[in-house]
Amino acid sequence: MRVALGADHGGFHLKQLIAEYLTNQGHQVSDLGAFDDLPSDYPDYAYAVARAITEKRVERGVVICGSGVGACVAANKVPGIRAALMQDCYSAHQGVEHDDVNVLCLGARVIGPELAKELVGAFLGASFSGEERHVRRLEKVKEIEEEYLKARE
Ligand code: RB5
Repeated sequence: MRVALGADHGGFHLKQLIAEYLTNQGHQVSDLGAFDDLPSDYPDYAYAVARAITEKRVERGVVICGSGVGACVAANKVPGIRAALMQDCYSAHQGVEHDDVNVLCLGARVIGPELAKELVGAFLGASFSGEERHVRRLEKVKEIEEEYLKARE
């Protein structure tokens, strides 16, 4: 799968590890920065990953900051992005199966590298179920987004 990765300084080292892990698993990884662990701003990388998805350059994204919270908030500002902070494997796959999550957010100061790898594996291994009730709920989510987009026109 084509996967975009982004992280600020808080997530930089975990991003490097995840990039290596995913490449070894055969995924096509686009590393959108940061490229060092100097202080940087998580919205820049969350936005870069979100754009890679909305422009269909990748299918999924992983954004990492210290807590995962800021990157998650920023990524969700982009229409079409469904980003979620995951700390357990059930949510990492169920969030895709039911909610069509397309960006996994990780907190590098909260979880360890092995759990992070398992979360990414569960996230990328899952696909949207397409079940009617989940499609219906997602349509409602999209309606909320479209309502606000229309209000800005
Ligand atoms: C950076 O210190 C930290 O605030 C950032 O990585 C992230 O945790 C924000 O949510």
